[in-house]
Amino acid sequence: MTVQFPAEFTFGAATASYQIEGAVAEDGRRPSIWDTYSHTPGRVARGENGDVACDHYHRFGEDVALMKQLGLDSYRFSLAWPRIKPDDGPVNAAGLAFYDKLVDELLAAGIEPAATLYHWDLPQTLEDRGGWRERDTAERFAEYAAVAAGHLGDRVKKWITLNEPFCSSILGYADGVHAPGAQEGEGALKAAHHLMLAHGLATQQVRSAVPDAQVGITLNLASVQQVSDSPADAEAARRNLLIGNLIFTDPVLAGTYPDHAREVWAPITDFSFIQDGDLATSHQPLDFLGVNFYFPSRPKAVAHNEPDPAKRVASDLGVESVVHDGEYLTEMGWPVDAGAFTDLLTWLQDAYGDALPPIYITENGIACPDVVREDGSVDDQDRIRYVGDHLKAVKAAMDKGVDIRGYYLWSLMDNFEWARGYQPRFGLVHVDYDTLKRTPKASFDWYRNVSATHEVP
Ligand code: FCB
Repeated sequence: MTVQFPAEFTFGAATASYQIEGAVAEDGRRPSIWDTYSHTPGRVARGENGDVACDHYHRFGEDVALMKQLGLDSYRFSLAWPRIKPDDGPVNAAGLAFYDKLVDELLAAGIEPAATLYHWDLPQTLEDRGGWRERDTAERFAEYAAVAAGHLGDRVKKWITLNEPFCSSILGYADGVHAPGAQEGEGALKAAHHLMLAHGLATQQVRSAVPDAQVGITLNLASVQQVSDSPADAEAARRNLLIGNLIFTDPVLAGTYPDHAREVWAPITDFSFIQDGDLATSHQPLDFLGVNFYFPSRPKAVAHNEPDPAKRVASDLGVESVVHDGEYLTEMGWPVDAGAFTDLLTWLQDAYGDALPPIYITENGIACPDVVREDGSVDDQDRIRYVGDHLKAVKAAMDKGVDIRGYYLWSLMDNFEWARGYQPRFGLVHVDYDTLKRTPKASFDWYRNVSATHEVP
């Protein structure tokens, strides 16, 4: 069955600074928590890091030419905070100049720039002062946002404050599997709260610098499927919804925290880090909500057998997901269920109603075992199938009344997949990490056709 998207629906692709840019010590950029983390032995698979990545910093012209060939309406990228305000010091003109060139090139190619202010590269100096555990980091983020928006806002109108605060807080400060690699209970909840505050403060700054900006935040939300009727699995599902969704969607869309947060996390914290007015600040009028989706969440009850009390509270924040015997898993080990995507989008609509702004899908995609043939081509049919099915799932949600305005495929090109290094490949464009040669995959031609016709075969 062929599915038709409306003419005004945006087709885009997404990337993030640390995953593609490289040039980590050039033109005044200073280290971020991901430089530190990836250079710490044992943290990233095969000891890989983003020092060179796709070398996009030097090859952005070639990359924008590929985007033009692909027929993208819009390109979502992130600005590297440690290029623009390195070490939380003075503004670095050379850092801004890189984004000037990129944005000008995009506009000349007829591609709308969509800039994310924070895709996880916190300046290391701020982490040394406590990072997202500290409210001061939210204030510093707002300063940086004002600089970036003030400088680029004459040309960039679509702004995303944060990418996936769940990952920045829970994966980074509780599970320890992302930078800065901490395993704390209260620290992670403080980080989540200060990220919500940072979102609100930055939204205010972007609006005052760019009156005609469209501002949103990108959340990776869980489509929670309860795995059995057991009370333990019911509780796991309730916690998954709380930690994966509600502690982010409620402050941003409703200006509240869910009532049961205090009850569930009473053993970890008294929440005294929440100050009067914080939730009102987090609850800014938004032009859109960015939603990232990759896999269904099937939470299972976690056994609390961790002897170290600090790690035990951290594991209280984690969520483990069930994988069925023999089911297809992506290179990330993630199950595939496009129907869960429709369920998530309709859940948002049911849960927030009129308080839900229009939605952009800001990331969706798959890492699959791309085989490079002798002639250099990659026939990535798994990717074509996955993206086709997920686009149809988006359209199914639109047909149920959810206001969805666009879709950004993750990712334009293969890149540094965080703790998993370079092995999982998510790109429409293959990158040879020895030569840095770019080669469009079969999915590139397929997606070009989708964005040209607005039709998914
Ligand atoms: C998301 C991240 C993005 C990319 C994809 C696969 O969680 O936002 O940078 O790594 O996963």
